[in-house]
Amino acid sequence: MKITITALKADVGSIGGHLTPGSELFNTIKEFVSENGKNLIIDHYISFTGDDIAILMTHTRGVSNPEIHKLGWDAFKAGTEVAKKLGLYGAGQDLLVDAFSGNVKGLGPAVAEMEFEERPNEPFIFFAADKTDPGAFNLPFYLAFADPMYCSGLLLAPHMTKGFKFTIIDVNYTERDRVIELNAPEDLYSIAALLRDTERFVIESIHSRATGEQAVAISTTRLHNIAGKYTGKDDPIAIVRVQGAFPATGEVLAPFEIGPFVAGFMRGSHNGPLMPCKLQTTISYFDGPPVITGAAFSMNQGKLTGPVDVFDHPFWDFVREKIAEKAISIRRQGFAGPSMLPYSELEYGGIVKILEELDKKFYLR
Ligand code: F6R
Ligand code: MG
Ligand code: MG
Repeated sequence: MKITITALKADVGSIGGHLTPGSELFNTIKEFVSENGKNLIIDHYISFTGDDIAILMTHTRGVSNPEIHKLGWDAFKAGTEVAKKLGLYGAGQDLLVDAFSGNVKGLGPAVAEMEFEERPNEPFIFFAADKTDPGAFNLPFYLAFADPMYCSGLLLAPHMTKGFKFTIIDVNYTERDRVIELNAPEDLYSIAALLRDTERFVIESIHSRATGEQAVAISTTRLHNIAGKYTGKDDPIAIVRVQGAFPATGEVLAPFEIGPFVAGFMRGSHNGPLMPCKLQTTISYFDGPPVITGAAFSMNQGKLTGPVDVFDHPFWDFVREKIAEKAISIRRQGFAGPSMLPYSELEYGGIVKILEELDKKFYLR
């Protein structure tokens, strides 16, 4: 049976700053989807990560389906109304246009979607990150799908030794989608050369070369490309099918132990370590640290069982402590050098004015 998983995520308001949406807004969106999705979707899962709410839906209508996208959009709209009523901060922040036009892509919310022939047992993980951008997935998924140091299946599982195909998108190119397809292992250095630049080249999808099946779908929205100005970081989501021809769940999770430095954190303008957190984690220290949550499901004919909270385990408590140290360590550097993003990636324009004023005061000696 062909099933589509559609995941949408948006910040439509939060309590006490950009911290967390709160139960009233959350329940509004949850009830809207279950009420209005009755004849449209098979199952759904609503969650929040930091200040963003994610709507995950299973159905049989394929990717980019207007009715499915409208359901998600209308749910975020209904949430926005409640957020306004409650005086939540940044109400409707990620809904960048007034009218829905057939597809949520390009309108603000993050979108990750995948249609596939469901396996007899279908496990997958839904990742959601806050205070960072889609480039945050570059290193973890490179390691999970192309490096036998992290993914033992590349050596041990016969159907994985052929490797994986990476589709990488140039997120700075706004006219159309500019993409490249590269194969691991033979294109490893080319893949790494692109993924090094997390603000420009981002993994969009990964496919098994043995079966042709899609394993990964990542949202690749660039809010500042849509709005032309800062409206929030592009807090990304990813759907990752696991086991069998794909890496095992634990192989996909393994690289998150690194807590890689990612763009985001305070004002979307800093580098900070990506902390794997429990589901429904809020935001705190320096509007961060950048957080990632993972919900693992089993699926049968689109019906979901789960989630299991993949980072809710004593192992990750230890990792979180180490990553907190990493966060404090880079924060000690304040604005200097790599702790703040380069000029082109700063999400606030204030510094431009300062530099323009100073430019006039420079003189030649
Ligand atoms: C980052 C983020 C926050 C805000 C910061 C200032 O993605 O959402 O760090 O940038 O709290 O917010 P404003 O400009 O809304 O006062
Ligand atoms: Mg926000
Ligand atoms: Mg957010």
